[in-house]
Amino acid sequence: MFFPQVGTALSTRAGPRWECLAPAKLNLYLHVQGRRPDGFHQLETLMVPVRIYDHLRWIPGDSTQPTTGLTLRIRNDVPPAPPATGSAASTPLTAGPENLVLRAARLLAEAAGFVPQGRFELVKRIPLQAGMGGGSSDAAATLQLANAAWQTGFSPAQLRELATELGSDVPYFLQPFPAICRGRGEQVASLTGFPHMHFVVVKPPIGLATAEVFHHWRRHPTKTAAGSLDALVTLLRRGALAQAAGLMVNELEQAAARLSPWIEQARRAFDECHCTARCMTGSGSAFMGVMPSAREARRVAGYLAGKRLGAVWATSSC
Ligand code: C5P
Repeated sequence: MFFPQVGTALSTRAGPRWECLAPAKLNLYLHVQGRRPDGFHQLETLMVPVRIYDHLRWIPGDSTQPTTGLTLRIRNDVPPAPPATGSAASTPLTAGPENLVLRAARLLAEAAGFVPQGRFELVKRIPLQAGMGGGSSDAAATLQLANAAWQTGFSPAQLRELATELGSDVPYFLQPFPAICRGRGEQVASLTGFPHMHFVVVKPPIGLATAEVFHHWRRHPTKTAAGSLDALVTLLRRGALAQAAGLMVNELEQAAARLSPWIEQARRAFDECHCTARCMTGSGSAFMGVMPSAREARRVAGYLAGKRLGAVWATSSC
């Protein structure tokens, strides 16, 4: 469903080609329970995958050519910030060995005991440093795609183990359904009976680094959300957005707002649209609102685009 092309070799003149889609996620609730002995933070969060996708392709190496190892080519299709935000800092997108696609591919190949060669091509549409899980989703997609294309035959449990090594959110993206994630984020409990949901997302021109937001949370911890997640899930299942609004809390939001004035501006802009079911997603800097319909999502997206707060999407759950 989420990886429509995984397991499909597309025939081209150059040989087989493997492709898959890597969705973004939104957090509708994020409660930080405290710091763990390993330095990470214990979380309880509600995540929903949305139809903003990176596109990953793998092209096998030519066995008649000298070994070139694994390479990655990236095309940046992330919507730019609006002109009024001018030369605001943008996050560099690098195709070096630290990129999660190459790290995931190398990890899988190492675990399988072989040296892969070939090229990954990544079309990037999920904004960086947005709290939308782009890098983690790319890593999970790489594990799935490589496991299929290289016929390494790892089980879902083995892939989860590799995913956890790569990052806290990576296991979630192996099966990106609406889910409650706990622990570092890697303990994923999928939710059934979740309705199709509509969203508006605003990504300010300046992103936020996850580690820095957690660091600020530790200095000024916010405690607002504990205990309300079950009630929120019940209300969202019923589509009771007005009541759900009061329970949609992201405890990293105030820490992010200390780092970036855009967070407060985004919150105010959503309030102007009477969109109360809204919060920052993940560690930011993107801000999102749940909308009652696709039409309303488009209307609010149009209004927010006019405010020039950053790139704006009207989207829906996968
Ligand atoms: O796991 P991941 O590499 O995505 O995390 C990036 C950074 O975010 C970590 O190095 C850590 O500083 C912070 N983090 C955290 N607690 C979590 C998840 C991430 O402190 N549960």
